[in-house]
Amino acid sequence: MKVSGKIALVTGAAQGLGKAFAATLLENGAKVLFSDVNSEKGQETLKEFEKRFGQDNVVFVKCDVTSQADMEAVFQQVRDRFGGLDIMCNNAGIGGESREMWEKTVDINVKGMIRGTYLAMDVMRQDKGGRGGVIVNVASMAGINPNPFGPVYCATKFAIVGFSRSWALNPECSGNGIRINMLCPAFADTALVADIDNTTVGSPTAAKEFIDKIGIMTPEYVAEGFLDLVQDETKNGAVLKMGKSFGKVYHEY
Ligand SMILES: NC(=O)c1ccc[n+]([C@@H]2O[C@H](COP(=O)([O-])OP(=O)(O)OC[C@H]3O[C@@H](n4cnc5c(N)ncnc54)[C@H](O)[C@@H]3O)[C@@H](O)[C@H]2O)c1
Repeated sequence: MKVSGKIALVTGAAQGLGKAFAATLLENGAKVLFSDVNSEKGQETLKEFEKRFGQDNVVFVKCDVTSQADMEAVFQQVRDRFGGLDIMCNNAGIGGESREMWEKTVDINVKGMIRGTYLAMDVMRQDKGGRGGVIVNVASMAGINPNPFGPVYCATKFAIVGFSRSWALNPECSGNGIRINMLCPAFADTALVADIDNTTVGSPTAAKEFIDKIGIMTPEYVAEGFLDLVQDETKNGAVLKMGKSFGKVYHEY
């Protein structure tokens, strides 16, 4: 898929991986609406993007992915402002294992991703006037392997992989020109990882110590993998695993 001239929506993109995905789409000539529940950070990123990529190419909208009304409004805005949708990235996600937090983790990581996928499918499907497109759902290596520090996080990421692989095999998607791919990064240098000691279970420093041993990727490096999943039209139902493991970098399907 040629990204230039395409229209994209990325959730949870005020910072971190989502911001890097939005930036790589803009660098490659897409028009991008990025959303986030954190409007202060979103406005800050919008100013930066407007300077780098031009005011006409980028829009920020405050949106909580757990709210159906917020998400419907975001999809309406992408259509009103840019006239359609070709690339959807369900990226918003958190860690949180405590008895108070775990349901919020499920609501954002699983229900937010399902909500965003269904709204994107509704816009993209060719039998309802759409022009097809690609949906990239951001899972994790914790969607492939067990994660002793984050059982709930791990369950949500397995859910993303199961849901996305299932729809990718369903003719309702492929028959309507829609591809669904999954990005499964290991640790990347973002706020989520900086806060990991507060959002995981077990020894409070175990997760950080593990990361120090195996290594961490830059968001820009992960964005290269994201772009592969968007551009490569042979990829549907693809699971891209990316990470550093004891100094060795991997990037494999
Ligand atoms: N950083 C990593 O090591 C890593 C590894 C694998 C997968 N991931 C996944 O990548 C995605 C992005 O994470 P990140 O590392 O960039 O973290 P991050 O904390 O830097 O960014 C997450 C963004 O999501 C936003 N967000 C939180 N709740 C939201 C909600 N209800 N609605 C809308 N936006 C919301 C936050 O405000 C934040 O801007 C997540 O799905 C995460 O699980 C991260």
